[in-house]
Amino acid sequence: MAEPTTALKDKAACGTKPAPPCTLVIFGAGGDLTKRLLMPSLYNLAGAGLLSEGFSILGIDHNDGTDESLRENLTRTLEAFSKDPTSEFHADHIDPTSWGFIRDRLHYLKGDFEKPETYEAVKQRVTGSAVFYCAVAARFFGTIVDGLGQAGLLKQEGDSFRRVVIEKPFGSDLDSARALNARILKQGDESQFYRIDHFLGKETVQSIMAFRFANGLLEPVWRREYIDSIQITAAETVGVEERGGFYEPTGALRDMVPNHMFQLLCMVGMEPPNSFDAEAVRTEKAKLAEAVRPIPPEDAVRGQYSAGTSEGRDVPAYRDEPHVSKDSVTETYIALKLHIENWRWAGVPFYIRTGKRMTGRRTEIAILFKPAPFKMFEDTPTADLGPTVMRILIDPDHGVSTEFNVKVPGPQMKIGRVRSGFRYKDFFADRPNVGYETLLYDCMTGDATLFQRADNIEAGWAAVEPLLKGWPQAEVAFYPAGSAGPKEADDLLARDGRHWLGLDGQTD
Ligand code: BG6
Repeated sequence: MAEPTTALKDKAACGTKPAPPCTLVIFGAGGDLTKRLLMPSLYNLAGAGLLSEGFSILGIDHNDGTDESLRENLTRTLEAFSKDPTSEFHADHIDPTSWGFIRDRLHYLKGDFEKPETYEAVKQRVTGSAVFYCAVAARFFGTIVDGLGQAGLLKQEGDSFRRVVIEKPFGSDLDSARALNARILKQGDESQFYRIDHFLGKETVQSIMAFRFANGLLEPVWRREYIDSIQITAAETVGVEERGGFYEPTGALRDMVPNHMFQLLCMVGMEPPNSFDAEAVRTEKAKLAEAVRPIPPEDAVRGQYSAGTSEGRDVPAYRDEPHVSKDSVTETYIALKLHIENWRWAGVPFYIRTGKRMTGRRTEIAILFKPAPFKMFEDTPTADLGPTVMRILIDPDHGVSTEFNVKVPGPQMKIGRVRSGFRYKDFFADRPNVGYETLLYDCMTGDATLFQRADNIEAGWAAVEPLLKGWPQAEVAFYPAGSAGPKEADDLLARDGRHWLGLDGQTD
């Protein structure tokens, strides 16, 4: 039997109750997100006993279909993903009880998201509490929320709730994000909107708060007096794949920075919230994001991959990928420096980089501590002395790794560098969750801690606004696929007397 994730079992074992009965209405039931992430997550939630008997799913899409065809399609794709080593979902086989629970509750409605009849039809099918999930292209977010609101589907009566989950990208700049917030908030209250960022579904991201605030050793030194700089990296080896149509007008900055990278930034930089209450946490995150000094274009480097070698095979240039223009200047890589203007972080540079087709897959936050004075080592070969570096490993490794200096055994006082690490899997049972389980469960139970409030989203866009505005003239720097990024990104740090940490080194 495919085991439900340990995290979810823990939730069930420590008295976490099944989510209250509700209908999950999925706009985009035939799409990739539904197949790849939502269904495996629901399967895991069912296996952990965290869905109630009164749970059901209504899938909506524009193709012809029936309840039975939806059930067959999703059963097939779930099985295929469970065997695909590149998918997020791993299971030896599909447990018939857990999947049966979901399968029997799947229903289909053919509908055009732009037509009011669709929402009237939804109204006939949904009573009581509902979560409306926009698993669709971003251009439909506003349309769907308008449709729901105008049909009266967002009215909450008695104890029942009506919530809307909105995927990213939420807007494409500050103005469009503001406009989308204003548009949806005409149809419902802020508390009904759950803006998702799947990085917050990652256990390793959620655990940053515990790491920082539950350890007396770390909490006092997590500040400008002791920290020299912070590097946040999300390096991918994959290219743009089949997503050229989406990626061309989007690029790495919009795709990754004001959302995913800022989530990591907020987690590592925010002040301790007064409690784990959603508003307390989201207020601290908003304060941090609002303290980011708008980033000038000269503090950023945009790169694009040219042809190269990735994981042992020749791969084409971005410009030769499907649905990409031959003279595209869309960036597939971005590196930037930012400053947080508050008491804790004044003067500490945060360096952020993210890119596709890089030499290694690595998402991590590295804290580089200030050097010790080293006076007493004046007469020793200190050339190798580096700062103490603590890396919070998010993907694909999950853990923490610290590099520091020790004495090399022997008669002389020689300093050597060592690494000490911990991996979650060495201490806790493996957790094959696909990353949406907690987010779905939290939405059904009304816990918005891991979702973005309107001000969180707008603060992210505001910080990168000068880059977006400065871009039409900006050049794109090329880097060979399979490399660590463009040389210009190295120059960005060299200007400050620093360098990027390697992407392919060992971490523990
Ligand atoms: C998505 C981006 O939101 O996040 C993708 O659109 C990117 O371009 C992905 O590849 C990265 O997520 P993860 O969880 O694989 O690191």
